[in-house]
Amino acid sequence: MTDKHRFIRHDLLELAAAYAENSVLVTTAELDLPGPQILYANTAFTRLTGYGVSELLGKTPRILQGPETDKNVLKRLRSTLQDGKDFVGRTVNYRRDGTPFELEWVISHLRDSDGRTTHYVAVQRDITAMQQAESELGKFDAELRSASHQLTQTVHNLELAEQKLAERERLTTLGEMAAGVVHDISNALTPVFGFVELLHTMDSIPAEVQTLASDLDASVEHAVEVLANLKRHYHSGPSIGTSEAVELPELVYQIPDITRARCWSMNGKGKGGICFAFDLPTNTVVAGNRTELLQVFVNLALNAIDAMPDGGTITISLKEDGEDAVLAISDTGVGMSEELLKTCFEPYVTTSRFGTGLGLSVCRRIIEMHRGSISASHASPHGVTFKIRIPLFVATANLESAADKNERLRVLSICGGQQRQHQVETILTNLGAGVWTADSGDEGLRRFYESDFDLIITDSSLRPTSGFDVAQAVKRTSPNVPVAIFVTPKESTYLASLPQHLQPDAMLPAQITQSHLEDTLAQLRLLNRQS
Ligand SMILES: Cc1cc2nc3c(=O)[nH]c(=O)nc-3n(C[C@H](O)[C@H](O)[C@H](O)COP(=O)(O)O)c2cc1C
Repeated sequence: MTDKHRFIRHDLLELAAAYAENSVLVTTAELDLPGPQILYANTAFTRLTGYGVSELLGKTPRILQGPETDKNVLKRLRSTLQDGKDFVGRTVNYRRDGTPFELEWVISHLRDSDGRTTHYVAVQRDITAMQQAESELGKFDAELRSASHQLTQTVHNLELAEQKLAERERLTTLGEMAAGVVHDISNALTPVFGFVELLHTMDSIPAEVQTLASDLDASVEHAVEVLANLKRHYHSGPSIGTSEAVELPELVYQIPDITRARCWSMNGKGKGGICFAFDLPTNTVVAGNRTELLQVFVNLALNAIDAMPDGGTITISLKEDGEDAVLAISDTGVGMSEELLKTCFEPYVTTSRFGTGLGLSVCRRIIEMHRGSISASHASPHGVTFKIRIPLFVATANLESAADKNERLRVLSICGGQQRQHQVETILTNLGAGVWTADSGDEGLRRFYESDFDLIITDSSLRPTSGFDVAQAVKRTSPNVPVAIFVTPKESTYLASLPQHLQPDAMLPAQITQSHLEDTLAQLRLLNRQS
């Protein structure tokens, strides 16, 4: 190559660099101070950095660095160039006026004919806009991901809500069906009860028939229990009856008496006996409905008895844990599978152990209405432990709930004759109770099966379903719901001859006054007297 050619080539290269869009920088080959010294900077470089060419020549590119410049990138730059390789990197640099920008640059070696590095040449570009776009894109991507996550969550919640709704609809439909079934079967059972009662009163009946009558009585009683459970299962309001201070040990000690008959029949069939063991060190008191709680305990004890065909022990223990009472009922029976332990409180889960399959779901419902919880687990060495947790009684809470109770006393008045109905409704409304009315016995019973009431008032003169029929149907399916009935003096003698469990709780005279009804409510413990 001639000198002329070399000159033209040099000139052209400089021209090309000067007009290049990217910044071009040529430095000396020393990396230690005062090197690398800038020997050449093109127009794009001065435009990018704000420095004039005269300010740059002889200086080091370190003048572009600042607090945000990445030291690790600079370390890598030095070692890469020292290794004889070209460097590619990104970092933050600062213009002459101090504004930062994102820089991407490539540094190459300029070598002589022996391969020794004589200079470095760098091509740089401002990638601030690109970085911003990338970070925007990243943000957008993150937002999109979060929105998609939220959407998935929302869809999931919607699905859950839909499932719940379907379940509620299913229960409502079943509830309506159940109310109808309870009504019809209760009616159908009335003559059976009558017949059995009649048999019991007849002396001339042979002993075997009397025994069969007793069995029939027990079976029908059980059917009524099942119906009462069914009705209670669909009960959607608050717990019926007053909330009171309930001493748990006192309730628990009643269990053996109530379950004795089942224990005997089991002892008859099986090889061994059933015994109870108690560990009740404290006189723990909870706030609740004693009848409902006893029902739960008895239900669990009966399950335990059924699970021990060869006999065994039912251990009932009680302790206080913080603000809760914890009652455990364990048996030494056949036990339950893992699956059943998890599902046994669901409605309709049926095992030979649980009769209708409604028992445990009703127990859970009652305990939950007492703001408590119930769980089942394996007992050691075998059998099942049911653990019940209920908040302890707090005196002030009871007073409040008792006062509250008066305000929302739910009364169903099933009376014939507009005048009587109106009179009852007016007096009860004056006393602050909620009153529902029905003009006939059938309509009244339908309402009773569909909903829950704290008191039923009825009238013996109703036809064709009389007030006596109403009272007996109520007492059979819900023995805890008080019934008051309007009767004549003669009728009251007849009522007194009925079996105790079918008798109404109060009798009302034809002419009723507010103070009389108040007395009756107070007698039934449905009214808190201020006096
Ligand atoms: C050709 C060339 C161009 C360079 N351009 C820049 C630049 O634009 N910005 C920068 O921060 N450092 C640049 N450097 C790097 C610094 O000048 C210096 O070499 C680097 O900070 C490593 O030295 P140190 O370890 O003493 O910091 C360049 C280096 C060379 C050789």
